[in-house]
Amino acid sequence: MQNNPYELARSAAAELTARTYEKFDVLLVMGSGWVPAADALGEPEHELAFTELPGFAAPAVEGHGGKARALRVGDKNVLVFLGRTHLYEGHPATDVVHGVRTALAAGVRTVVLTNAAGGLRPETQHIGEPILISDHLNLTGANPLTGTTFLDLTEVYSRRLRGLAKAVDPSLAEGVYAAFRGPTYETPAEIRMLRTLGADLIGMSTVLEAIAAREAGAEVLAISLVTNVAAGLSDALLDHEEVLEAGRAAAGRMGELLRTVVAGL
Ligand code: HPA
Repeated sequence: MQNNPYELARSAAAELTARTYEKFDVLLVMGSGWVPAADALGEPEHELAFTELPGFAAPAVEGHGGKARALRVGDKNVLVFLGRTHLYEGHPATDVVHGVRTALAAGVRTVVLTNAAGGLRPETQHIGEPILISDHLNLTGANPLTGTTFLDLTEVYSRRLRGLAKAVDPSLAEGVYAAFRGPTYETPAEIRMLRTLGADLIGMSTVLEAIAAREAGAEVLAISLVTNVAAGLSDALLDHEEVLEAGRAAAGRMGELLRTVVAGL
């Protein structure tokens, strides 16, 4: 196994492209609750388990499929990851972004990241609503880059791609996504802090992958599915099954949204 994460991503990309398409245009990462939406994208031409690719970990969470699919959407070669690697599984940041770096090494220039998130603005958000991420607060304490890579993060989440998504669905709202490492959900005090800091959504993924994509100059679109009201903002307690159920309920709409956005890229 190589120590250099970029080398490892290149060898995973070589294996992936030898077994699927020669080159990919778009990566879609399907997070918790989004796996059912992947089926609405169309029939995959190829499917492999993450464990068949160098450097990939099998995902630990129920609702994360652990598979890579290759399919055509419009004139694009699309790579779909059913599930992702998280910091809370005990993996370092370089492992968390390995899938994205593999996709980039396979030619991807557009990265679409999806996740499940708690909603910090129940006044305006509702469960099952997709929200475009406009910016993030990386509160994980981790970063996939090391050394003197002083990467500009002024526009991590492409304004152009958000515009395309809104052209498909004008009802889409935007919000700032805060990421904690997890795996615990937040305390009510942490949620009050995040609201004060200007966050609209809270989750445990996405930000490191977005940074890795921007390092390579790819464009990023990220969409949160609001699966629950964040801790302490309602009387309800938080439950992973509720997160997955909100995803299943929204799957048709989410799959259609992704298919139309990707076809229009
Ligand atoms: N907090 C953190 N991550 C989440 C949540 C939440 O409320 N909902 C879905 N993922």
